[in-house]
Amino acid sequence: MPVRSAHEASDEGNTMTEQKTATLSFDGKTIELPILSPSVGPDVIDIRKLYAQGHVFTYDPGFTSTASCDSTITYIDGDEGVLLHRGYPIDQLASQSHYLEVCYLLMYGELPTAAQLEAFETTITRHTMIHEQMHNFFRGFRRDAHPMATMVGVVGAMSAFYHDSTDVNDQKQREIAAHRLIAKMPTIAAMAYKYSIGQPFVYPRNDLDYAANFLHMCFSVPAEKYNVDPILARAMDRIFTLHADHEQNASTSTVRLASSSGANPFACIAAGIACLWGPAHGGANQACLEMLKEIGTVDRIPEFIARAKDKNDPFRLMGFGHRVYKNMDPRATVMKESADEVLELLGVENNPLLQVAKELEHIALNDPYFIEKKLFPNVDFYSGIILEAMGFPTSMFTPIFALSRTVGWISQWKEQFADPQMKIGRPRQLYLGSTYRDYVDVENR
Ligand code: SDX
Repeated sequence: MPVRSAHEASDEGNTMTEQKTATLSFDGKTIELPILSPSVGPDVIDIRKLYAQGHVFTYDPGFTSTASCDSTITYIDGDEGVLLHRGYPIDQLASQSHYLEVCYLLMYGELPTAAQLEAFETTITRHTMIHEQMHNFFRGFRRDAHPMATMVGVVGAMSAFYHDSTDVNDQKQREIAAHRLIAKMPTIAAMAYKYSIGQPFVYPRNDLDYAANFLHMCFSVPAEKYNVDPILARAMDRIFTLHADHEQNASTSTVRLASSSGANPFACIAAGIACLWGPAHGGANQACLEMLKEIGTVDRIPEFIARAKDKNDPFRLMGFGHRVYKNMDPRATVMKESADEVLELLGVENNPLLQVAKELEHIALNDPYFIEKKLFPNVDFYSGIILEAMGFPTSMFTPIFALSRTVGWISQWKEQFADPQMKIGRPRQLYLGSTYRDYVDVENR
């Protein structure tokens, strides 16, 4: 039984149970604000009427204490290091499910029956090719363009091609847009990679599963047969699952805000890709591996730990820390196990970068600075080590994150449109600029 969302609870809350309220008193005023309760996690204070009643705004740069919406998709307990997708824990999904089944779960709220899963996988498989004319977009980029720049451009360009799935008020068109994005993102990411290394594009194959198809499109060449290693395909699929959705993170919030104006769905996803690119967010996997390479050997770790602690040094340990997790990111735990498995399979279990990463994790987790600030490895800490061992250049790490997170963006986007109270997102501000003043002619300045 899907949990009623908070906005429904607030409408019915007074009839079913005594409505809890928060009392705010200032400037001789007292305002009662409803408290809404979730199915799990902290209560929220509903401040929607605060400005009308108190003529004040709340102030929360970075939204550290702000719930921007209600949702039934993903729940994170940062203190306990828990991540649930529709109630199912990420470690079980990573070990027992597979990415397209997790996509179905995120989009529709329940695990599919065998028939539902087969129909969904067939639909996705049959949408993996992109419009042939879109190939021309890649040729407009320099060969050394970052693949994330290419993905922002080409995914945005989808808004100029698929006119039969851009009416966001038509549930059927939303469904088609969702399927197209999930299906075509691996093709676009693989084409961005191929273009960057001057190799020909490889078309998707319907006889391969989602992860194997992506590896095939990235690593096969017309000159010889390429067989996807099933263990690498399984590791790839698990990486997709671990990155699928993560509540109201920066890129998901970007997609929600962009789509709140009714913008073209493909353009909104392009906005999410742009936001994910930053090194504080999805770009951290590339930055983390580059940091591990810069550290190089275990004996240089203390030097970098000292820099991370130095207030005057902007350097941060990439792959560490999280806005929500103040415990181990459960995805990092699964990723670390997968790293051991993949590197052993590839015969590189003595990978010096993995040794540096494990020693860095050990040192950091025993250092008072990191303990006090609750800085643990996050999803980006180990993923780069696996991706590099699989043959991807660091520039492809964030495109793979974007490919995986597309279903999360899409699921949150669908949920937002299903919310009868959806309105355009339009925050206010604390204005600290000049008050009213008249224009002064240049000769009098
Ligand atoms: C992702 O939101 C999501 O869910 C994101 C994500 C997802 O799946 O969508 O989980 C994916 O983006 C994971 C995070 C990847 N980013 C990195 O690994 C980059 C390195 N991490 C930091 O930039 C930072 O930890 C953030 C951006 C992840 C979180 O930053 P916050 O929540 O704004 O925390 P903060 O910057 O206020 O830091 C709190 C303190 C600060 O010290 P003080 O000012 O209190 O003295 O901790 C320090 C920071 O200086 N700190 C670090 C640090 N991260 C925070 N110090 C050294 N190294 C770090 N990595």
